[in-house]
Amino acid sequence: MSPALILTRAAPPADILAADANDPLRGFRARFQLPEGLIYLDGNSLGALPAATPARLARAIDHEWGHDLIGSWNSHDWFGAPRRVGDKIAGLIGAGAGEVIVADSVSVNLFKLLTAALERQAGRRTILSEPGNFPTDLYMAQGLARMLGDRALRTVPADDIIAAIDDDTAVVMLTHVHYKTGRKLDMAAITAAAHAKGALVLWDLSHSAGAIPVDLNGCGADLAVGCGYKYLNGGPGAPAFLFVARRLQDELVSPLAGWMGHARPFDFIDDYEPGAGITRFACGTPPMLSLIALEQGVDLILDADPGLIAAKAEALSEMFIRSVETRCAGLGLSLVSPRAFADRGSHVSFAHERAYEICRALIARGVVGDFRAPDVVRFGFTPLYTRFSDVWAAGDALADVLETRAWDSPAFRVRTAVT
Ligand SMILES: Cc1ncc(COP(=O)(O)O)c(C=O)c1O
Repeated sequence: MSPALILTRAAPPADILAADANDPLRGFRARFQLPEGLIYLDGNSLGALPAATPARLARAIDHEWGHDLIGSWNSHDWFGAPRRVGDKIAGLIGAGAGEVIVADSVSVNLFKLLTAALERQAGRRTILSEPGNFPTDLYMAQGLARMLGDRALRTVPADDIIAAIDDDTAVVMLTHVHYKTGRKLDMAAITAAAHAKGALVLWDLSHSAGAIPVDLNGCGADLAVGCGYKYLNGGPGAPAFLFVARRLQDELVSPLAGWMGHARPFDFIDDYEPGAGITRFACGTPPMLSLIALEQGVDLILDADPGLIAAKAEALSEMFIRSVETRCAGLGLSLVSPRAFADRGSHVSFAHERAYEICRALIARGVVGDFRAPDVVRFGFTPLYTRFSDVWAAGDALADVLETRAWDSPAFRVRTAVT
């Protein structure tokens, strides 16, 4: 990244500065540690570091681990953390206390919930999803179908999902906000249609939780999973969460019968007995340092008014789309995301045949979005730390990169391992 280029950014116009000055969430930015001058539009991939997290982790390391050692499982309630943090996340996604637990990765949680759902739905063979769903969701379903032998993954375009649900559908598995397009599916309508046909629905909330309002119980949702390291700001590889509606908890059993999901793990008995409620979906020992970091991120979001978060997600993304429409017209970009905020989440994507190079050229100017193969450049708007002036400057940088063809440099063609 070139500091010289960052310094040459034009000052935003007065109305943009006024929008920042009048933003009711403006105080939250200082609660994140963000490099000076960087315009970070990738919180939908890796959320920023909450400023309180390093000191909290230092205390967990020095005092809890370093001093209190094993006793911390009781004295600092490490043992209760997966449920405690799960209850906090529940407040962000319209779930109740005891319906969410923090555990494992999204991939592993998909496996646990899909398997449990298929077991309950004996006689129904299909997992229904959409083509182009996040790869791990499809891969987990494919792997499970291969393992079980008599089940299959079927994909139909999102617009045809409701019509495709039939008596053979065991579970509908969809991502609420699509990772690439940002399209938001109608959770209430799809869930109701699935229930009408006797199917369960498993929602992946990775691009929704902490970014836009989610009302799992209001929609009658059955099952959900979601990421800790995106909008929840839990840090790289933060543990994920899962939701099981209370009415289903006694009926479903995790295939990963780990000791932490046992009814009495410290009885050390030979036979597995699933724990009560959501606890049965825990598996092994939680990664405590990561879980402590995740709790900081979740606590920070819980301090903000969800209505203000949603309103600012709309305002920021709308402003960016308008800026691209006016300043980048005729420069080869096409909007991939739905135009109306009601139909999308908090990130916006554009297609361009040189999307990868454009993304790298922007990063070189201190504007961090990301690239999704084959031709999408994606910009995430995180209302707690993204400013209107950041969005304005990102639009300016994008227009300049396209107009000057700054992307057309061999340096920007080199593929990085993570895009
Ligand atoms: C929709 C969606 N699901 C799942 C994942 C990955 O989950 P994990 O790495 O926790 O298994 C991602 C990562 O970007 C994602 O976007």
